[in-house]
Amino acid sequence: MYIPSYKEEPFEWYKSMRTQRIVREGNSVHVFKYNDVVTVLSNHNVFSSQFRDLLGDDIKNELDSRAAPSILILDPPRHTELRGLVSSAFTPRKIESYDNYIRELAAKMIENIIEKGRCDLVSEISYPLPIMVISNMLGVPEKDLKKFKEWSDALATSLGRGPDLRTQREMSEYFLNMIDRNSNEDNLISRLSNVSIDDKKLTDQEITGFSILLLVAGNETTTNLITNALIELSNHPDIYKELVDNNKIAGDIVEETLRFRSPVQSTRRYAKYDYQINGFNIYKNDFIFLYLGSANRDEEIFKDPDNFNPFRENKRHIAFGNGIHFCLGAPLARLESRIVLEEFAKRIESFSIERLNPDDRIDSDIMYGYKRAIINVKKIN
Ligand code: HEM
Repeated sequence: MYIPSYKEEPFEWYKSMRTQRIVREGNSVHVFKYNDVVTVLSNHNVFSSQFRDLLGDDIKNELDSRAAPSILILDPPRHTELRGLVSSAFTPRKIESYDNYIRELAAKMIENIIEKGRCDLVSEISYPLPIMVISNMLGVPEKDLKKFKEWSDALATSLGRGPDLRTQREMSEYFLNMIDRNSNEDNLISRLSNVSIDDKKLTDQEITGFSILLLVAGNETTTNLITNALIELSNHPDIYKELVDNNKIAGDIVEETLRFRSPVQSTRRYAKYDYQINGFNIYKNDFIFLYLGSANRDEEIFKDPDNFNPFRENKRHIAFGNGIHFCLGAPLARLESRIVLEEFAKRIESFSIERLNPDDRIDSDIMYGYKRAIINVKKIN
């Protein structure tokens, strides 16, 4: 079966696949409809995320010796325990307290774009903003941001294609060195280093696994959301004009971008038991490919799904997943992107993005977005 890399637009392919609902090829099962994707994601007792259990002992031991599996690839009960350790740092209320800090960063970056007139949106705003924010939350120095960029590019490409051992090794060494059991600083790495579950501290490998996840998950994804939102606004100058007149619609634009050009297009599970999804037989050890980006265009759920319409009533997209693995960073990603749009529209009267081509796109089986997007801006006088 043809499976797209997101170097190409997948949406026509999804549309034809949705007519077949679920497609099996060997022990791979591909799920395209919204309700079926939600069924799998919400049923973690049958559909596991614990992929390291399927690797050969050599690779599994090599990976585990450096960074323990993160919550993204753990099932309960360990998933529940570890997620509980950081969830209070990511509540919408806690995240709101970063508003001023993010706004200042965004304003500075946008002023810089105005001064240049023409530049690469990704390297000037979409990439540096989320990585600076998450580095600050984790407590890692800004001077290392260039290194993070190389790692996250390498991981975005390797995601879903098997582990990139060299990058994993470099990142693990970096974070192992950051662990300081005596630190009382107010950041996430210190918090993870000093917290206990049933009187047991996390191991160095668990802290490392968690830190890598937060750095990577909070980075490329939000970069793509910001870029995709501005690309969509450049395609719809009428909606951009409305945003300039009324920046309260920024949140609606972010939600519609999440649905329409979901930064994470697909995720995976494997079946621990035989099961039926809406009459379709799933067998133990099947790999399940879940196309969030297709579910978000399901015509039975969203009216006129191929139309970018921030004012649609139904905003129940699943771009952040569903169930126990629902994205921990959703409030942060939403806040960062909303602030960028608000600060952008305060200062820029109109803008255009130069023609994008396939080489500008991220080469990934999971992530949907651009490495580069040249923008031209005209400031408000
Ligand atoms: C999980 C998407 C931003 C941290 C997920 C999942 C999705 C997702 C789809 C679930 C994957 C699955 O069930 O297999 C996104 C998108 C983002 C974004 C589209 C931006 C637009 C962030 C940010 C952070 C973050 C900013 C943190 C700083 C996480 C974590 C998980 C996760 C820790 C794992 C949760 C768990 O397994 O319990 N994200 N994410 N994400 N995300 Fe995000």
